[in-house]
Amino acid sequence: METISIGLLGLGTVGSGVVKVIKSHQDKLIHQVGCPVEVKKVLVKDIQKVRDVDIDSTILTTNPNEVVANSEIDIVIEVMGGVEETKNHLLQALENKKHVVTANKDLMAVYGAELLAAASSNRCDLFYEASVAGGVPILRSLVDGLASDRITKMMGIVNGTTNYILTKMSKHGSAYEDVLLEAQKLGYAEADPTSDVEGLDAARKMAILSTLGFSMNVDLDDVKVSGISSVSEEDLQYSKQLGYTMKLIGIAHRHGEKVEVSVQPTLLPNAHPLASVNDEYNAVYVYGEAVGETMFYGPGAGSLPTATAVVSDLVGVMKNMRLGVNGQSAVLPQFPKQLKKDDE
Ligand code: NAP
Ligand code: HSE
Repeated sequence: METISIGLLGLGTVGSGVVKVIKSHQDKLIHQVGCPVEVKKVLVKDIQKVRDVDIDSTILTTNPNEVVANSEIDIVIEVMGGVEETKNHLLQALENKKHVVTANKDLMAVYGAELLAAASSNRCDLFYEASVAGGVPILRSLVDGLASDRITKMMGIVNGTTNYILTKMSKHGSAYEDVLLEAQKLGYAEADPTSDVEGLDAARKMAILSTLGFSMNVDLDDVKVSGISSVSEEDLQYSKQLGYTMKLIGIAHRHGEKVEVSVQPTLLPNAHPLASVNDEYNAVYVYGEAVGETMFYGPGAGSLPTATAVVSDLVGVMKNMRLGVNGQSAVLPQFPKQLKKDDE
């Protein structure tokens, strides 16, 4: 029985979770793909750092080529974050015929089309389920589960950090700065949490959801964004008194052939199902012409939930390897993009 060898780029919150899930679920992985899975090399910034995961320190490296150009590695998992440098690592990995799994929405929202084209031309898989809504399998549901339907609207909470902050501020009267710090310690926030609190992280996820849901190449620049950094404790207390809950909501709407995508703090009546999605949890409503309304709910950030999505993508790649069908679905057919203007 052959072993599938993995190269990891990053061993932080998500990367440590990936190592733990691969180890603790090895029997399930072998059952599904028929062979063991081994992490062979791991790129980190600081080899000396104390880590909360049991790992052989001799497999750590600071040289990306030991992962992306390593002939012993079959699949590269990218959980280091960043955009330009990371894109180059992944292009190199794909050129070296390595399949790629990434959790990186910053990268996929900007260079998704280019990377998917590179994957396709190298007959490699490039999967990115963990890039949206952490442990909630929303991308696979859009692409496969709802493949037959015409999606008209997607609406939801797609950022765990801001949902955690708004929940703690409104339910416990906690101070914004204190809860942001907590969210960082819990591993929910981005390396630079500005992208969480200013709504950019949610905007990237809405761009990815819209691209897949509407089969149209929606870019980050197409999303109208405002975040929660100016929401005060008083705003939240007043909303509560009036029977409303404030949430950072992403909405992607199809009006005929045109689409409109936005992210903004929104007052929801307390009885609205999204009003009771709390802490780091995410939820996305998807409206389809035939199916009607579906809702996807679960942990939107954090080590093990996100790692579950990453390792599920890994299983997908390995099943394709067994069948010899990698790279066949990397690029999906797209309609021409048509954005709705404000005055339309
Ligand atoms: P993190 O905790 O900051 O970990 C980043 C890891 O990458 C660290 O191990 C770091 O090395 C390594 N790294 C970063 N830059 C590097 C460089 N230039 N060269 C070598 N190694 C480098 O980040 P994370 O929270 O795990 O997030 C990773 C990715 O997953 C991001 O794209 C993020 O958006 C995405 N994501 C995160 C979550 C979540 O809940 N955290 C959920 C979904 C998706 P050192 O350990 O040596 O510093
Ligand atoms: N910072 C992100 C969030 C991580 O809080 O939702 C998950 O993508």
